[in-house]
Amino acid sequence: MLITSCGNSIKLAQELAKKLKAKYTPLSISAFPDGDIYLKFNAPLKGKTVVIVESLFPHSQISLLRIIFAAETAKDLGAKKVILIAPYLAYMRQDKRFHPGEAISSKIMAKLLDKAVDKIITIDPHVHRYKRLQDLFHIQAVRLTSNHLIADYVKKNFKEKGKNAVLLGPDWESSQWAARIAEEVGFASTILEKTRHSSRHVSVRLVKTVPLQGKEVVIIDDIISTGKTIAEAAKLVRRLGAKKVTAIGVHGLFVENALPKLKKAGVDKIVTTNCIEHPTNGIDVVTLLAKELGKER
Ligand code: R5P
Repeated sequence: MLITSCGNSIKLAQELAKKLKAKYTPLSISAFPDGDIYLKFNAPLKGKTVVIVESLFPHSQISLLRIIFAAETAKDLGAKKVILIAPYLAYMRQDKRFHPGEAISSKIMAKLLDKAVDKIITIDPHVHRYKRLQDLFHIQAVRLTSNHLIADYVKKNFKEKGKNAVLLGPDWESSQWAARIAEEVGFASTILEKTRHSSRHVSVRLVKTVPLQGKEVVIIDDIISTGKTIAEAAKLVRRLGAKKVTAIGVHGLFVENALPKLKKAGVDKIVTTNCIEHPTNGIDVVTLLAKELGKER
């Protein structure tokens, strides 16, 4: 087995290789003067299982194209199997034609990857209108969850320190994290009702009332992109008396100055998994990935 990355997840790929005692091989990737991709493997691939570890952020378009180039080249060079580990899978949120004429991005992305790789492994993908990865992909598609890792983080940083907290999901989809993790930890939980007015404007309201006065609140969501969702949730719980707010995101994208916006909205601490490399990383997914990839040996 040979592990590599197209640039976004080099650290994760190296850590995974170390954990599995597999070979990490760097790819040479650059651009021709006109911008065309140049890509080169630096190890023999014949008969090998090639694992590409690549979160599709930042630069989801370039990243997707690099994955396709790398996978096609690996097959061309005789690789026996090409596995893509995309801890963060982009393009999943546009999973329907919201307005006439729109591209359904998740379907197109899946079609492209179906052709390029033999198997995909991802962590907490944004499945909403498509309920299962199998509804999108025709190749073997494995959906892992970081729930237990987040639960461990909450146990260690709250429960074991004698602190109680209310876990909150900012929309009904996030109950698959907030409610399940709360159950595992033994904390109370609630979800908000979110209305998305545009890609940059959301509003939230509390539907199931839980006492928040003087409480620590942990907001959990899959993606933190512009930070708008978490910011609105944080403002609401602050108005309801929460004394401290922590935000946990599986995938921290933090676009358009999200971090200062979140601080301003009353978020005291932000923690993410290392699905996407970021200074807020505090929850490690390497063991989760290693356990799954270990099945391939
Ligand atoms: C969408 O439903 C997701 O679960 C997240 O809530 C959303 O992607 C967050 O985006 P933003 O940070 O831009 O509000």
